[in-house]
Amino acid sequence: MVPSHYEFYNPVKIISGSHAVDNLPFELERLGVSCPLVVTDKGVADAGLLSILEKAFSDSNINIGAVYDKTPPDSSLKAVKEIADIYRSNRCDSFVAIGGGSAIDTAKGVNLVITQNSDDLAQFAGAQVLDKPMQPFAVIPTTSGTGSEVTLVAVISDTDRNLKMLFTSHYLLPNIAILDPRMTLTLPPSMTAATGMDALSHAMEGYIGLQKNPISDAYSMASIKLIRQTLLATVKNGKDPNLRLTMANAATMAGIAFSNSMVGMVHSLGHAAGGICHVPHGVAMSIFLPFGLEYNIEKEGKRIGEMLLPLAGENIYLNTPVEQRAKATVKAVRGLQQDLYNACGLPMTLKQAGVPRKKLEQIAQKTMDDGALGYNPEAVDQEDALHILKKAYE
Ligand SMILES: [Fe+2]
Repeated sequence: MVPSHYEFYNPVKIISGSHAVDNLPFELERLGVSCPLVVTDKGVADAGLLSILEKAFSDSNINIGAVYDKTPPDSSLKAVKEIADIYRSNRCDSFVAIGGGSAIDTAKGVNLVITQNSDDLAQFAGAQVLDKPMQPFAVIPTTSGTGSEVTLVAVISDTDRNLKMLFTSHYLLPNIAILDPRMTLTLPPSMTAATGMDALSHAMEGYIGLQKNPISDAYSMASIKLIRQTLLATVKNGKDPNLRLTMANAATMAGIAFSNSMVGMVHSLGHAAGGICHVPHGVAMSIFLPFGLEYNIEKEGKRIGEMLLPLAGENIYLNTPVEQRAKATVKAVRGLQQDLYNACGLPMTLKQAGVPRKKLEQIAQKTMDDGALGYNPEAVDQEDALHILKKAYE
């Protein structure tokens, strides 16, 4: 049965292929712009990925207005302000973000302050606060995980207050997402694994999120299957462009799913652990995902069990009695976690991720402030969060 009412929205044009970046000048011209600001980070610049973009633009009417390549690993209020000044002084008319979640979300933040004509980003935090469309915006992800290229979400760190601010608005959705395997070929195995587990957490939390619907379900299930078929192989063989392109598609599909269904407690715990102890987002997702699924079994056991099919394949699914499938799903996630630990040392516990035990109470407390918690099927209080944090510690 479908819900009596639901909404699904994704207007992002996706261009996927071995040289997809080469299509960007045409797409920007189509949007009527000619002077984009490129937002990226040092890692992307050092890996030579900007030259792929510059080469694509060399034969076109598009002139890059400016390049900002100092985006910090956790997008910050300070960077947003700095980039907004560069945008204005170079009279740019659009944005191209190249990078992982931080560069993409930072570009979203800058686009927001430019559009709203206010440098006070914090006043726009929360859900559906924005009231006008943003400047044309193209995204080229260099990781396969955040899904930020197709989501209405931006997470920006407020380093002074040690917290991650969450912005959600349909206006934050980019116009174009470019999936080009050349942009992820140099991603190291550990980051490939961590960002891939972020994508898996989007697909799986999205499948049980409170705003789930039949269309987001389809994206979740397709994404989980591709991740099962591809993630470990990509970690072991990162130079394979076909594997990279498949993972990029999987992450984008998971992004489309959760941008509609929303995510839950796994992300709330991860945002808090990231804000307080700087645990990379994907690492936190990998650690918390099995615990988050387990916690929701009572309310959503049937749906968690359904995910066993894409996650473990037909044989295991059919040979597992219906009432045991939810637990088998959790077990399969733990199996993937172990495989990734063996392949590249992806942390499996908070201790391995460098979290001091004395910080657990503080993380539990901050988890309660996170917006994603409101979309989790089961209610979570601070004691529950602390209980999970203790279990995830070692
Ligand atoms: Fe995430």
